[in-house]
Amino acid sequence: MQHVLVTGGMGFIGSHTVVCLMEAGFEPVIFDNLCNSDTKVLEGIARIAGRSPIFIQGDVTDSAQLDSVFEAYPIRSAIHFAALKAVGESVSQPLRYYRNNIGGLLELLAAMQRHSVQNIVFSSSATVYGEAEKMPVTEDTPLPPALSPYGSTKQMGERILQDDPYFQTVCLRYFNPIGAHPSGLIGELPLGIPNNLAPYVTQAAAGLREALTVFGDDYPTPDGTAVRDYLHVMDLAEAHVAALRFLDEATERSAFEVFNLGTGRAVSVKELLHAFERVNGIPVPHRIGARRQGDVTELWANPSLAEQRLGWKAERSLDDMLRDAWNWQLRLVNQ
Ligand code: NAD
Ligand code: UFG
Repeated sequence: MQHVLVTGGMGFIGSHTVVCLMEAGFEPVIFDNLCNSDTKVLEGIARIAGRSPIFIQGDVTDSAQLDSVFEAYPIRSAIHFAALKAVGESVSQPLRYYRNNIGGLLELLAAMQRHSVQNIVFSSSATVYGEAEKMPVTEDTPLPPALSPYGSTKQMGERILQDDPYFQTVCLRYFNPIGAHPSGLIGELPLGIPNNLAPYVTQAAAGLREALTVFGDDYPTPDGTAVRDYLHVMDLAEAHVAALRFLDEATERSAFEVFNLGTGRAVSVKELLHAFERVNGIPVPHRIGARRQGDVTELWANPSLAEQRLGWKAERSLDDMLRDAWNWQLRLVNQ
């Protein structure tokens, strides 16, 4: 079994990916400092996969801790999820974001080099496209200056990997992952007040928040609300298995490859809200508020390159995402 280092593997996307890796016959080695996750996730993963994954508590900015993981396991590849991800927080605490996201990436790469590991899958974000002029965005859409320190850590991370061809990189630009494992045993665990739309919707529906604020209905879009490309976290998780296989097997690839991961479907805030109410048969209290600073009007993917080259395509519908997100929220409330 191929050992894969999964930094940030206890988090939202990481935990779902660990399940897919175990099911696909890989041996994930989770390395996470638990700054935005909880060891309870391990129980959920174990119930789904039938056994516990390897977990080491550690920090990617700590080279000695990284060395001990590479010494303990015959790691062949790394998936690097570990990062801080709150856009607003990155504006008020930029140094913390650069230290964790860039410092962590540099330490990881140095440790990989010391232990002769070349393959890496990097978690990038659609945020690197900023306010793009033409929709949907393809991978060769030029990247404008980043809108936040968080966004610039993703642009810089991509650039660092691109500049060093020792590393065989698949860089994945995620659009908006939502939903949860259909079992309801793992999902997203936002600490405090959620920043993102889907967890806010489920918490408002559950009565944990008074009402969702729709950030602006005066955008130049069909219903006035902002448009994104939401994809099911299980589809996203599966893309990482495809990326590892691509690194191992593709005969024609360059040292740095980048792919958009989205559905290619444009969905507005109101559309998502109403789909949630219809699918789950529950109203979501909401009001219209002002635009959120830094939000782009619309952003959705042309995901065809991932289909052509990775053989990956998002299969699950918006209804699936919203049903699974609600199922997970109900489990959390009843825990
Ligand atoms: P998450 O916060 O749920 O998971 C990240 C995990 O990394 C957490 O378990 C956290 O404890 C861990 N971590 C953070 N810093 C660490 C460090 N220094 N050392 C070890 N572990 C550390 O986030 P997520 O939503 O699963 O995101 C995973 C990755 O995908 C991140 O790189 C994020 O920037 C990127 N991404 C996420 C989204 C999204 O909407 N969720 C969109 C685009 C890109
Ligand atoms: N929104 C609301 N009310 C809320 C939360 C969000 O109306 O309470 C709206 C936002 O204004 C936006 C849409 O819902 O129009 C989606 O917002 P999210 O915060 O869920 O997602 P973003 O597209 O703003 O950003 C997310 C991640 C970023 C990542 C980006 C990639 O938070 O880290 O996707 O596209 F970079």
